[in-house]
Amino acid sequence: MSGQTPIFIPGPTNIPHRIRQAIDCPMEDQRAPDMPDFTLPLFRDVKKIFKSDAGQVFLFPSSGTGGWEACITNTLSPGDKVIASDFGQFSHLWIDLCQRHGLDVVAVDVEWGEGTPVEVYARHLEADSDHAIKAVLVCHNETATGVTSDVAAVRRVLDDLGHPALLFVDGISSIASIDFRMDEWGIDIAVSGSQKGFMLPGGLAIVCVSEKALAAAESASCPRCYFDFADMIRTNKDGFFPYTPPLHMFRGLRASVDMLLEEGLENVFARHHRLAEGVRQAVAGWGLSLCAKESKWYSDTVSAIVVPHGFNANDVAKLAYLRYGLSLGLGLSKVAGRVFRIGHLGDLNELMLMSAITGAEMAMRDIGIDVVPGSGVAAASEYYRKTGRPVDLNAGVAAQM
Ligand SMILES: Cc1ncc(COP(=O)(O)O)c(C=O)c1O
Repeated sequence: MSGQTPIFIPGPTNIPHRIRQAIDCPMEDQRAPDMPDFTLPLFRDVKKIFKSDAGQVFLFPSSGTGGWEACITNTLSPGDKVIASDFGQFSHLWIDLCQRHGLDVVAVDVEWGEGTPVEVYARHLEADSDHAIKAVLVCHNETATGVTSDVAAVRRVLDDLGHPALLFVDGISSIASIDFRMDEWGIDIAVSGSQKGFMLPGGLAIVCVSEKALAAAESASCPRCYFDFADMIRTNKDGFFPYTPPLHMFRGLRASVDMLLEEGLENVFARHHRLAEGVRQAVAGWGLSLCAKESKWYSDTVSAIVVPHGFNANDVAKLAYLRYGLSLGLGLSKVAGRVFRIGHLGDLNELMLMSAITGAEMAMRDIGIDVVPGSGVAAASEYYRKTGRPVDLNAGVAAQM
């Protein structure tokens, strides 16, 4: 297919030219004496993306799932009780990972389309007077349903009850895109992945760990080797790694962090919010609804769009890909066939997103879904037009770019 075909799946996301260029460098010596000049500032600056001063960053050569495993195996022991909720494919898989490591998971079932049930967590934690619950798990942004949870509210529950459980957050599709405050929200381990808001290829689990979680690692007895924090700490403190590090990914990460900090995290969050809102306007224009049940759950990185009964959402995505070269996200597991997803995170602007909205609208019409031609496109484009940055045609150009 000629022309560019940016992807609109909720990760991996489009890789900006600057990051591709940063990755395209000659191989380096991982044990070179000047390697710490590169790695130590990288650790320091990655922490800024998590909004953490106190935490320690780990860069594991792995996808985000390895970050979950690092989090669980370093801090807990088989038989430990944790509380988690299942409201989408990724929160579901995190529970599965905990169970396979022998943890005793209080798995709260939540209707898909809702987020972390803070009140249910509060009831369990209040009843847990002997503090058997060692960790509370929150999937900040459930990528399968396009639902964002209130992490700060979970922190407040723990604080109000004086409960000492660790707070673990899956921020794989939120960190570097949606407001995230590791220290302020008292998060003990935050897990991210390179292929979402960091705009890199898949392959890095980017994890930030509090002092409290590091202390828990000293007595945790889950078997671990590759993901052992202790091995990383021993070598990372001097800027090196316990095994061959993926240096090209680190070069890309350096460029990614620079781009995010240059734009400013608050601007990054505002951009994602505005782009997401345009997609939501399009969905309303089509007369369709989101999988997210209420606006408080709306995700600024991914929208899962419910197709009318009698249609298969996978057909929308398949046709969009085959006819227009447009990659949309499929519905996963329980919502397979019911929703297709538009990923709106990473290196995107409004006109890129308009191409996804246009393509989704065309593909829906192509398979017979009765959306009015131009309805979503008009709603989104008017929103983007009205909320676009102010331009003064008579002022100098350079100052406005
Ligand atoms: C919220 C969330 N958690 C976990 C994962 C799993 O991450 P990975 O596929 O990088 O292992 C994903 C992947 O999309 C995700 O979106």
